[in-house]
Amino acid sequence: MLYAIGDLHLSMAVDKPMDIFGGAWDGYVKKIEEGLSALTADDTLVLAGDTSWGMSLNDTLADFQFLERFPCRKLLLKGNHDYFWETAAKMKRFFSDHGLLSFDILHNNAYLYEDTAVCGTRGWFYEEERGGEHDVKMINRETLRLRASLEAGIKLGGELTVFLHYPPLYEGYRCDPLVDTMTEYGVKRCYFGHLHGRARARAIEGLYKGIAYHLISADHVGFTPVAVETPALRPLL
Ligand SMILES: [Fe+2]
Repeated sequence: MLYAIGDLHLSMAVDKPMDIFGGAWDGYVKKIEEGLSALTADDTLVLAGDTSWGMSLNDTLADFQFLERFPCRKLLLKGNHDYFWETAAKMKRFFSDHGLLSFDILHNNAYLYEDTAVCGTRGWFYEEERGGEHDVKMINRETLRLRASLEAGIKLGGELTVFLHYPPLYEGYRCDPLVDTMTEYGVKRCYFGHLHGRARARAIEGLYKGIAYHLISADHVGFTPVAVETPALRPLL
C-alpha cells in the first residue's frame, strides 16, 4: 500500500528534539517507530518534508539510518526545514555510500505505485510571503516543479496524486498557482504537511473544487503513516 506522513522532524545527530514542545511530541521518536513498524517491504511511504533537522547530509545520517530500519520504500519531498537538501546527484550518492537503499527523491519527477502516480513539490505558503519579486520567483519555481512532476506522472500512467510540504489551502489563504495547476491536470487528491499543534486548527481538509485535501503532518496523524486511498470526504463548497 501507498502511505504518507510529513514532518517527522528527526534530530538524532543534532540537538533539536521535538519532545520539548510536549503534548503529542512527547516521546515522538518512539511513536514514529511504532507507526512505521506496520509498513512492509511492499509498501511505499511518501515523507512530505521536514524529515530531519540536520543542517548537512552528514548530520542526517543517524536519522536516515533510523528510517532505513523500516523496510518500506521511502520517497523524500523537500520541506522548509530540510537544510541538508543537496542536488539529486549528491543525495543519491550519499544514500548509496551509506547503504540507505530504501530512499528516493521526489523532486521534479514522479513515481508509479500500482495505479497511483506520486507527484509533488515543496509548495509555497503565506508565512514566506514578504512581498516583491522574490516571492513571485519562488512561487513560479514551485509551480514549474509541480508541472514537471505532473508531466512525469502522466508519462508513468496512473492517477496523478499530489504531495506538498506546505498547505495549498489554509484559513484565509489559497495558493492559486498550485491549486489551479492541480485542477488543470485533473488531480483528485492532495496531501500536505507543515502545520503543527494549534496551527492545525486552521488547516483546510476535505473536498474543495473536486480535490480532496489531507493534512498529514506527524502530530496531526498520531505519528502513524496515512494510507493513500480514496476517502469519502465532506465537500467544503
Ligand atoms: Fe515545515
